[in-house]
Amino acid sequence: MTTCILSGIRPTGNIHLGNYLGAIQNWVSLVNTIDEHLFCIVDQHALTTAEDAHDLYEHTRLITAAYVACGIDPNKSYIFAQSHVPAHTELAWYFNCVTPLGWLNRMTQFKDKAGKNKEQANLGLYAYPVLMAADILLYKATHVPVGDDQKQHVELARDIAGAFNNYTKADIFTLPLPVMPPQSARVMSLRDGTKKMSKSDISDYSRIHLLDDDDALALKIRKAKTDSDPIPSTSDSLIDRPEAKNLIAIYASLCGASVNDVCRDFEGQLFSTFKSALTDVLIEHLRPIRDKLTRLLADQTEMDRILARGADYANSIAAETLGDVRKSLNLYPRPMR
Ligand code: TYM
Repeated sequence: MTTCILSGIRPTGNIHLGNYLGAIQNWVSLVNTIDEHLFCIVDQHALTTAEDAHDLYEHTRLITAAYVACGIDPNKSYIFAQSHVPAHTELAWYFNCVTPLGWLNRMTQFKDKAGKNKEQANLGLYAYPVLMAADILLYKATHVPVGDDQKQHVELARDIAGAFNNYTKADIFTLPLPVMPPQSARVMSLRDGTKKMSKSDISDYSRIHLLDDDDALALKIRKAKTDSDPIPSTSDSLIDRPEAKNLIAIYASLCGASVNDVCRDFEGQLFSTFKSALTDVLIEHLRPIRDKLTRLLADQTEMDRILARGADYANSIAAETLGDVRKSLNLYPRPMR
């Protein structure tokens, strides 16, 4: 069986360290072991939260450049914008018709995003996981590398694949597997170790942006919340120290080490010392990414070439799957003249 990765990021603003360590870094390590890889800039998903959907053009450019700058080879993988492949929304409609409301009512992200104002939330936000299932299943993806917060959505995509296969009695869809990185599946806010690092946090000091310069990186780490205890010898002692655990996990992920390795190396040291080591590692890791990202953003021809190549390929695969789907639903084939 051919293996295939599909994953994506919403172009809703600046890309942060959570997106990098939770998703893209894992994509880069998985592409060597999987046959096909498609990485989508999910611009239609961004429309579900109006406050994030400003300047989709610039943000799509940014995410495209970030994929490449972080190590995705645009000539070996396919990078494309969701809105350049209309099959995503068509397939989402067919899935809407086999997805019980009860399944959507369980989605925690909808509850978090809609908050207390559920009656005013838009239909797109509610149906979001169905469109995400279409993103994944259209390409018969076998692996979906995401952060922890998206696991429930990938599991729903499995259920929708099963429901559709069962409804049509045609075995069209493969059940995709969510794949999480070993220790950065949930990078936490630098200001509150119990909250996820996110684009929507009002404090810029809560997150590291991939475009932050060296001074900003140093300042954000200096200001990151910690405690006054020294670093313990093993990760077990970090259970009640979420901020300390988060900084150590970030260091470990950047170095390809385990949290236990880092505890052993820094055992007994205070966070003042550890923070300067973390700043050095961050700068060393992010500076080349930032430089490449900045160069790519200035090269519109290359950006268009990457997105055109991705869209051509994605549309060709999507057309095959949609053909099978329409047939399985017994829709009248469009007569050719
Ligand atoms: P989005 O745009 O919120 O985030 C993109 C990716 O980054 C991961 N991520 C994190 N990982 C660890 N720690 C964090 N603090 C953190 N913040 C974000 C997310 O888990 C995600 O992997 N619904 C998706 C986008 C999407 C998608 C898809 C993903 C749409 N269609 C198909 C995979 C396959 C989302 O909103 O991700």
